[in-house]
Amino acid sequence: MELPAKYGGEPVRTKPLPSISDASGRWLGDEELALLTKVIRSGRLNRVYGGFVREFERRFAELMGVKHAIASTSGTAAIHVALGACDIGPGDEVITTPITDMGTIIPILFQNAIPVFADIDPETFNLNPEDVRHRISDKTRAIIVVHLFGMPAEMDVIMEIAESHDLYVIEDCAQAYLAEYKGRFVGTIGHLGAFSLQQSKHITTGDGGITITNDEDLAWRAKLFADKGWDREVGRCHLFLGNNYRMTELQGAVALAQLDKLKWVVKQRRELADLLTKKLMQMEWVHPPKVPSYCKHSYWQYPVRIEVEALGITIGEFSEALRAEGIPNSPGYVPPVYLQPVLAERKIYRDRRCPLECPLYGKRMRYESGLCPNAERMMSNVIVIPWNEFYTSEDVEDIARAFEKLMAYYTARRQ
Ligand SMILES: Cc1ncc(COP(=O)(O)O)c(C=O)c1O
Repeated sequence: MELPAKYGGEPVRTKPLPSISDASGRWLGDEELALLTKVIRSGRLNRVYGGFVREFERRFAELMGVKHAIASTSGTAAIHVALGACDIGPGDEVITTPITDMGTIIPILFQNAIPVFADIDPETFNLNPEDVRHRISDKTRAIIVVHLFGMPAEMDVIMEIAESHDLYVIEDCAQAYLAEYKGRFVGTIGHLGAFSLQQSKHITTGDGGITITNDEDLAWRAKLFADKGWDREVGRCHLFLGNNYRMTELQGAVALAQLDKLKWVVKQRRELADLLTKKLMQMEWVHPPKVPSYCKHSYWQYPVRIEVEALGITIGEFSEALRAEGIPNSPGYVPPVYLQPVLAERKIYRDRRCPLECPLYGKRMRYESGLCPNAERMMSNVIVIPWNEFYTSEDVEDIARAFEKLMAYYTARRQ
């Protein structure tokens, strides 16, 4: 049996894997430069004067098969635009998952609405629809569904719940470009879908976002919300509170070039992930993503659940041992967001408790340990491997070999 590198053996690999944090794992080049040059030479950097952002919106809507797309400055902004379009405001509750980026939650709070957390499914890490049903109150107005890591959430049940309670559904697709649920792209099933173009995403403009919908009224409000509530067709007329979330033409140019690469990026990520899944599936105590036959995952990252108790180790130990083999990974993804000080210590506006103690709300929302047990357990039994379209099959073999090596070692040590 080979000794793991953590305990003095030789690592499986020493060569770094391609990474989203630099050019090794990002497909940025002449295509982006050519369009950026056009923007600079045009002298029009703002979307109101140029046409690149508009063209990106048109082409993104076309690709997704929806009527409208509204670009913005981040994934967080794209979700805010969706909430603004639905007119979510003070006293409203929005049900969502605790296992997500803070960018899902921030816009709820900026609308002075209340995030309500439903627990996740321990295998898919996505919202458990039955727990969503359980958390609905007379104040619930919307559900934000996150397709975590690129795995589609159970949309049929969520839509059925939403329809029976007259709720909006916003799909947070920041991690799930071109993921499919029963033949439909995620983001096109709920009332609105929101995407991120931040550095680590399938396509990137550094930061950026885009919101999609088929609904005319929601699209109109979304467009105005991202532009200071400004109805430009009327003139200097601000109809309601919005923000300046306008994507610049520089971002628009890069986004257009990136969009042409998206299908390839997702295809590569899928093929490479399938390769790893085939290997990991054969290992006892190791649970790679189990994708239902009616879904297509798009692998923003690759989560693996490990039965660490059976192996007599902690997830931290396993994560360190895997890192020592030359395989980057993080234990547990993120802590449930309700345990972050901003919520747990009720410090939304520092010492003022608004909106959690808003008279318009009239209830007392508590964010504390125990709220969502499956979400909390994820911290101690999951590791997340960064995923990338530029991995080679040899890279994936190395990842599998590192798992094999560690499993053999820990299984033997336990006996
Ligand atoms: C699930 C999810 N939602 C929202 C966001 C927020 O996106 P951004 O960082 O572009 O604001 C992210 C990304 O970071 C995310 O992963």
